Amino acid sequence: MNVAMLGSGFIARFYADALVAQRAKDKLISVYSRNIDKAKKFADDYQLSFYTDDMDVLVSRPDVDVVVISLPNNLHEAAVAACAKAGKHVLCTKPLGRNAAEAKRMLDMVEAAGIMGGYLEDLCYTPKFLKSMKAVKDGSIGKVLWAKSREAHPGPHSDWFWDAEQSGGGAMVDLGCHCVEIARNYIGKEIRPVEVMCWTATQVHPINAEDSAIGLIKYANGAMGQFEVSWCFRGGMDLRDEVMGTEGTIWLNNFLRTGFEMFSTGKGGYVAEKAESNSGWLFPVGDEVHELGYTNMFTDMFNAIENKTQPLESFYDGYIVNAILDAAYQSAKTRQWEPVQIEGWRGDTTSDSGPATASYDDDHYLIKKEILPSGEHKLILKHKVTGEVTVREIG
Ligand SMILES: NC(=O)c1ccc[n+]([C@@H]2O[C@H](COP(=O)([O-])OP(=O)(O)OC[C@H]3O[C@@H](n4cnc5c(N)ncnc54)[C@H](O)[C@@H]3O)[C@@H](O)[C@H]2O)c1
Repeated sequence: MNVAMLGSGFIARFYADALVAQRAKDKLISVYSRNIDKAKKFADDYQLSFYTDDMDVLVSRPDVDVVVISLPNNLHEAAVAACAKAGKHVLCTKPLGRNAAEAKRMLDMVEAAGIMGGYLEDLCYTPKFLKSMKAVKDGSIGKVLWAKSREAHPGPHSDWFWDAEQSGGGAMVDLGCHCVEIARNYIGKEIRPVEVMCWTATQVHPINAEDSAIGLIKYANGAMGQFEVSWCFRGGMDLRDEVMGTEGTIWLNNFLRTGFEMFSTGKGGYVAEKAESNSGWLFPVGDEVHELGYTNMFTDMFNAIENKTQPLESFYDGYIVNAILDAAYQSAKTRQWEPVQIEGWRGDTTSDSGPATASYDDDHYLIKKEILPSGEHKLILKHKVTGEVTVREIG
């Protein structure tokens, strides 16, 4: 497949590095940038045969099969519309929309045009994430009760992120979109997110948006998703996930402290995304493009186009994420639990299955099994009919 890039900024270069690094049979061939000099520089750097400052010209070229959107959030919808009009498969960076209404229109456009809409949620493709998802699907940690994801860094690299009109909000829409989708994957995409409670604050920066937020998302099966985001964190990019299930636990640290530690007096340059320093003890990342999920993500996207299937992350997923974030913004205003409004829910319609309680025998539930320092084994049981709680000591 031949791939065209819209945008030539920060994420366009990460994507281009991933496209050039793997799946060489899918070729990045052209770029659009509103600034023709930047388009030319990008084309020169990645040896592309065509560059332009006219988006429609690029998207409608017959040699383009797939378009990658790497533009600011307020430009995603118009770019998707251009791709739908030209009948080109479209892969859009996160967040899909500035809000759920925009995301829904984008979803409807790709479905009406019969093209694939891939949602470029890279953090759901990191090697650690994919392996942890496999463990969850295998049942290694039982029923997921609580999934928490955190992304915090010292703030984004371009002016438009800091303008709520262009970006759709602050740290919550920018980083929360990753965290919401990570937790949603662990809990199960078929489970409906029901309501959200959220705190936001502008703790440091002079902006009309939040630079920190924490949210709780209640799911229909009783599980809880949690996100923590900030543009005020000092010390690099903190990407961590925690999942708690009835049979186990997963903790992931995706970026800082990945086992690569380096000391430098500061003679070098770039260390890793959002690293705040190039001196002292540093935490580089071996292959950033891979560790951040970009290579696995594009492989899945192109395979899905080829096989006429859906990728792991589609425009529908992007829409659900925006719907959850809309409820989070609403909750931050009202200080109440707010419902997640979803048009055309495609998952399960069942609700809370009650506590995930294990039976001990025909008459009792097992509340707790404990081995004490003395070596004594204790069983705390609840009678299924009378509700009486008793203890059995063994050994
Ligand atoms: N991990 C991730 O998935 C990740 C990381 C960073 C950014 N992003 C997303 O990628 C998108 C772009 O972010 P970025 O970090 O590359 O930003 P950036 O500012 O580095 O680059 C933005 C690009 O859009 C172009 N642009 C800006 N305003 C424009 C306008 N009015 N008309 C036409 N072109 C315009 C710029 O020239 C530049 O090429 C955003 O949606 C952002 O949320 C995703």
